[in-house]
Amino acid sequence: MIYEIKATVLKNQKMGPAVYQMKLECPEVAKEAKPGQFITVKCEEGILLWRPFSIAGVEEGRFISLFYKTVGPGTEWLAQAQEGDILDLRGPLGGNGFTINSEIKNSILVAGGIGIAPLIFLSRSLCSLGNPEPLFLIGAKDGFSIIWPPLEYKIAGVRIATEDGSLGYRGTVTELLENTLSAKQLPADTRMIYAVGPRPMLKVVAEIAKEHQIPCEVSLETIMACGVGACLGCAISTTSGNQRVCKDGPVFDAAKVVWDKYVPQRKILDTTITSPATSPIEKTKNVDLAVNIGGIELKNPVMPASGTFGYGEEFTNLVNLNTLGAIITKGITLEPRDGADQPRLCEIPQGMINRIGLQNPGVKKFIAEKMPFLRTLKLPVIVNICGSTVEEYQKLAKILDTVEGIAAVEINISCPNTKEGGMLFGQDPRLAFKVVSAVRKTTSLPIITKLTPAVTSIVQIAEAAVKAGTNALSAINTMPALSFVNGQIMLGGQSGPSIRPIALRFIYELARAKLGVPLIGCGGIMTWQDVVEFLMVGAQAVEIGTATFTNLKAMEEVIQGLENYLQKQGIKDINEIIGTALS
Ligand SMILES: Cc1cc2nc3c(=O)[nH]c(=O)nc-3n(C[C@H](O)[C@H](O)[C@H](O)COP(=O)(O)OP(=O)(O)OC[C@H]3O[C@@H](n4cnc5c(N)ncnc54)[C@H](O)[C@@H]3O)c2cc1C
Ligand SMILES: Cc1cc2nc3c(=O)[nH]c(=O)nc-3n(C[C@H](O)[C@H](O)[C@H](O)COP(=O)(O)O)c2cc1C
Ligand code: FES
Repeated sequence: MIYEIKATVLKNQKMGPAVYQMKLECPEVAKEAKPGQFITVKCEEGILLWRPFSIAGVEEGRFISLFYKTVGPGTEWLAQAQEGDILDLRGPLGGNGFTINSEIKNSILVAGGIGIAPLIFLSRSLCSLGNPEPLFLIGAKDGFSIIWPPLEYKIAGVRIATEDGSLGYRGTVTELLENTLSAKQLPADTRMIYAVGPRPMLKVVAEIAKEHQIPCEVSLETIMACGVGACLGCAISTTSGNQRVCKDGPVFDAAKVVWDKYVPQRKILDTTITSPATSPIEKTKNVDLAVNIGGIELKNPVMPASGTFGYGEEFTNLVNLNTLGAIITKGITLEPRDGADQPRLCEIPQGMINRIGLQNPGVKKFIAEKMPFLRTLKLPVIVNICGSTVEEYQKLAKILDTVEGIAAVEINISCPNTKEGGMLFGQDPRLAFKVVSAVRKTTSLPIITKLTPAVTSIVQIAEAAVKAGTNALSAINTMPALSFVNGQIMLGGQSGPSIRPIALRFIYELARAKLGVPLIGCGGIMTWQDVVEFLMVGAQAVEIGTATFTNLKAMEEVIQGLENYLQKQGIKDINEIIGTALS
């Protein structure tokens, strides 16, 4: 079970240069936490994504401790927390922790820098099972940067490696590991290496473990958005395909990680970031929020934006799914897609950039594995479809046409057309017409065409889609953007509050063009006030994406806020405000 709770700070103590230990009271998380699991913390307003931290220890079934290093705005903010402060926290997260059983007689824990945090919890758990105490190998640049396990933890031995030789072995912690194993300083039945630290270090540890034929588990870190397995932003490549660090990890068998895709190839520059959030809502009742989108009846105009809500199932117990107007699934292709290598996400001022690369299980698995759950919901299910050729879209639409429980398809035309030079379908009216009319011919389901903002005239594209038979238009998809992530260039799609004015402008232009089909606004919507603005410029409904990462209840709060607003304004029916700002 994942809890979203308020945790009280009991201690936030500086342990060394830029390193802090925090003790929090949060019984729900403490009772269920296992070594290797983590929590996410909401930082100050202006920081969009919740920050993940490993659980470094659990005490008395009530308290958890964290060890963290200040590296940017989120951790700098955390470092200012005082005793008695309340933090918003989600956890325990991570579907796969470290393997712990009584057969692990000898274990080596390899920690690079702040990577020691989850290993402290692990060492205590191993000992409590009656296993011999583990050997800790700790590495850092210099003696000042070494993070020591707290004294109360039982550890057989600690060996230190510093790159400048100011403490312990002069060199890297991986050299120390190799020396320890080669010198046979450990019993031959050493059963496990557990490692946490920087990516290049983990790669070398994995190689050493393989060479010495010792099982090895690594805890991996990627930037996260949802933390619950829905957005695919944290996915890494493994020998069993893509795995999500937040849900399928963060602990992985080192032999299964495709290290060349996980470890950055080159370093150019370092970047830092910030961004904002939502506002509180009151409770009210008795107004009509229902809208009709091209033949689809919605009890309210709020839906999750494709790709930010997985297949809904990921949010069971976190979001009251049946309160939503409809559900829009992650984009589906004909065949399964692996998606992009890491990095897949980064935060930018007022938003984020993603390059998931359309990872999805393919339509067959989608129908077999995702539809049974979606059919249990009491709301329309809209399936977002993507393709590289017109034929692919057409085949997909044909397959979905006969599947029970689908209310509509949303065509993502922000995909490159591989047959015609890689131009996005949504950038050329001719291509947009081709793809929408091909889908129209094969399905009786209502069609929503989702427009890209990467165009000079969105109205021209929209007109082509309407001519081809679309029943509604949604705008906008993410905006093409570039950011530096850990020194590497990342090309992707920008979302979040920074694109809201652009999305609003596009809806305004589409509404003024009077195209004769309903419009769905999407892009940077965080609050009910944002939704009112979209409705006033002509949207009949909205899709909310990035806001859910910063506030799981964003859509529920927006629906409640809209109800409250209408009641206060004496407006009985939400349709009355649609288009009221158009002149
Ligand atoms: C499962 C998990 C467990 C973690 N446990 C701990 C922990 O116990 N203690 C601790 O100090 N940190 C931990 N981290 C890392 C921590 O989440 C980041 O340092 C933190 O989010 C940085 O936030 P910031 O706003 O201070 O810095 P930002 O400005 O967000 O980041 C500073 C720099 O670090 C990079 N970065 C940020 N987060 C990550 C990441 N997850 N992976 C790779 N690069 C990143 C950014 O691209 C940027 O270059 C963990 C991360 C994960 C995914
Ligand atoms: C992680 C992520 C994955 C996405 N995947 C898809 C997708 O599969 N299909 C699609 O049409 N749009 C996808 N989008 C775009 C969103 O549906 C939405 O159009 C965009 O994020 C703007 O809305 P927002 O600012 O509220 O997030 C994705 C966006 C994000 C952030
Ligand atoms: S952060 Fe892992 S899937 Fe969203």
